[in-house]
Amino acid sequence: MASPRLFTLLLPVLSGALVLLPLMASGSEPLFPSMRTDLDAKDQKRVAMVTRPTVDFSKPEQFETMSAGASTNRADVNGDAFSHFSANITFAEEETFKLGNALFTKLWVSSPSSTQASDGLGPLFNARACQSCHLKDGRGHPPEGSADATSIFLRLGRPARTDEERRQVAEHERLNFPDATYGEQLQDLAVPGLKSEGRMQIAYQDIPVTLSGGEVVTLRKPSYSVSDLAYGPLESDVTLSPRVAPPMIGMGLIQAIHEADILARADPDDRDGDGISGKPSLVRDHRSGELKLGRFGFKAQNASVRDQSSSAFAGDMGISTPDNPFDHGDCTAAEKDCLVMPTGVQARLGPVEAPDPVLGLVTFYSENLAVPARRNISDKTVLKGKALFYASGCSACHAPKFVTRRDAGNKAQAFQLIWPYSDFLLHDMGEGLADGQQVGVADGQEWRTQPLWGIGLTKAVNGHTFFLHDGRARNLTEAILWHGGEAEKARNAFAAMPKDDRAAVLTFLESL
Ligand code: HEC
Ligand code: HEC
Repeated sequence: MASPRLFTLLLPVLSGALVLLPLMASGSEPLFPSMRTDLDAKDQKRVAMVTRPTVDFSKPEQFETMSAGASTNRADVNGDAFSHFSANITFAEEETFKLGNALFTKLWVSSPSSTQASDGLGPLFNARACQSCHLKDGRGHPPEGSADATSIFLRLGRPARTDEERRQVAEHERLNFPDATYGEQLQDLAVPGLKSEGRMQIAYQDIPVTLSGGEVVTLRKPSYSVSDLAYGPLESDVTLSPRVAPPMIGMGLIQAIHEADILARADPDDRDGDGISGKPSLVRDHRSGELKLGRFGFKAQNASVRDQSSSAFAGDMGISTPDNPFDHGDCTAAEKDCLVMPTGVQARLGPVEAPDPVLGLVTFYSENLAVPARRNISDKTVLKGKALFYASGCSACHAPKFVTRRDAGNKAQAFQLIWPYSDFLLHDMGEGLADGQQVGVADGQEWRTQPLWGIGLTKAVNGHTFFLHDGRARNLTEAILWHGGEAEKARNAFAAMPKDDRAAVLTFLESL
């Protein structure tokens, strides 16, 4: 498709041989176009204009209230703020959304059961419903009190050991390798008659941090381990990566951001010398095997909402789908008792536990949860905080604006000015946040920039303010203070601000 001339144009845009190589398909064709293919020259100019970072903080920007363009939900703020459908979908699509919602909240049961269309859970699982983790379509939390570890789990992974395994990772065939006994994640629940794998344990250590003006904030540094391992030890090179379920809003729009716009911000070798690199994640589409830009998950390990959803069915609930047809979920060959448990497959419904159209409906639902409108955007403190957010370098990773592709699969997501506050790239966030687990292109210190839209409604929707991939931060200040690595300069700028300025940054975040 791309001519050699296009390739030469591409060179200055993509920085560094390291990233250039994987961005080339096996021939010399670039994997992704360097410029948007969905727009004519005039529209490209318009898009460049509207997405340029603002320099005027005296008043809100045009359309700033509408975080997700025409799909933004403008209903009153309450606990359901993340559960509305995109405001611009059709009536027919509303019906599809509602069917998807029923499946997202449905509690799956173990097989065999009398409610046959709902069985197939497990044999090993972390939760019975998508909604059990993505609480109110929002985020989960670390365990509070005794046994409540549902909306967080441990991913298990080890690095390549052999040349063949290294080749598989280099060619994006594998992200990493599972534990030989426990598989890809630790399931702390199991169907009746089967032992669950073990229990996640978290211990926190207090770390006091002094900010300018003498304010002391105590961070809690977590360490993770597993107790009650039911099937023997974990392999010695397997790492534990804790993950709390993130909010579900705006997914379809993130999917509709053009590759060229994400890659334009990538700077893996930090050529511009700002201390911030940003590396694109490259992963294989689960069905076609094509190389795609990863955008979903804390390590950007999935390219599409559908891939993320079928993985969730398989790993989190042990339910097979057309994309992931193994009926025993994350049971491994070493877990023999698990492999002989009954499955929920019923010939009259199809060859898997959640046959089409289940996966498609859940995917549609997940793509169309609306982002709520901004609040108080003209407030003086919000505007001051916004200026400080830009001046401190937060916006270098938390990229404010994109215009989605005109040829998006769903019209509701096409050509919308959106404000996700993420570049969807991987960044080294320092040792403090490191999980030590390589996931494809992402190394053990790298995380995808978390979108910030809707973050100010966390308390209203989920009743808590636990942030970051493992919920260790108990409020926004702690979340910012954990930033290290490429984000250390921005973190230090925040810590060095007068107290009022820090408060303004928080007020801005709360308006998102
Ligand atoms: C056991 C808890 C749990 C269950 C159940 C669960 N999820 Fe998730 N979900 C997560 C976690 C944790 C992540 C972050 C993934 C990662 O980085 O590994 C996530 C991520 C996602 C994302 C991507 C979010 C983003 O910001 O990139 C989507 C979409 C998603 N889940 C959909 C689903 C669907 C659909 C279901 C049901 C089929 C489901 N999830 C069930 C915990 C869960
Ligand atoms: C180098 C890139 C980078 C910079 C600069 C940066 N961030 Fe982040 N930010 C991230 C990444 C990556 C995460 C996810 C980290 C995690 O979950 O462990 C994150 C997470 C967050 C979160 C928590 C989001 C959530 O949903 O849990 C907040 C709040 C946040 N950043 C605010 C800021 C502010 C304010 C600044 C400027 C002072 C800033 N960030 C600068 C990359 C960056």
